[in-house]
Amino acid sequence: MVHRIEIRPCGASFDCAPDESLLQGAARCGLHLFSNCQRGECGTCKVKIRSGQIKLAPFMLSALSMAEIDADYTLACRSFPRSDVVIAAELVGRIEPGHYERLPD
Ligand code: FES
Repeated sequence: MVHRIEIRPCGASFDCAPDESLLQGAARCGLHLFSNCQRGECGTCKVKIRSGQIKLAPFMLSALSMAEIDADYTLACRSFPRSDVVIAAELVGRIEPGHYERLPD
């Protein structure tokens, strides 16, 4: 079952499958959140969950502390939706479909 993810305050939203991280789902839809390692090690993709439920895959405590988890923060690269979710996050930018084109080798 696909879940609807809304990003506040910008209001953008995207569909995300349960086996797709919030970071992957956003990127697939052209919505770029801050990220770096994409392995739960750096904390760059930290976002706040406003509502909904996620499954958090293993991560480094240096990237996300227990106090931050208690305050409803998560790592977008390690978070898999289990319901519709609203997150508070800043977008790096949007890529419109067809905006980028791969150059020939
Ligand atoms: S991008 Fe590094 S923890 Fe998510």
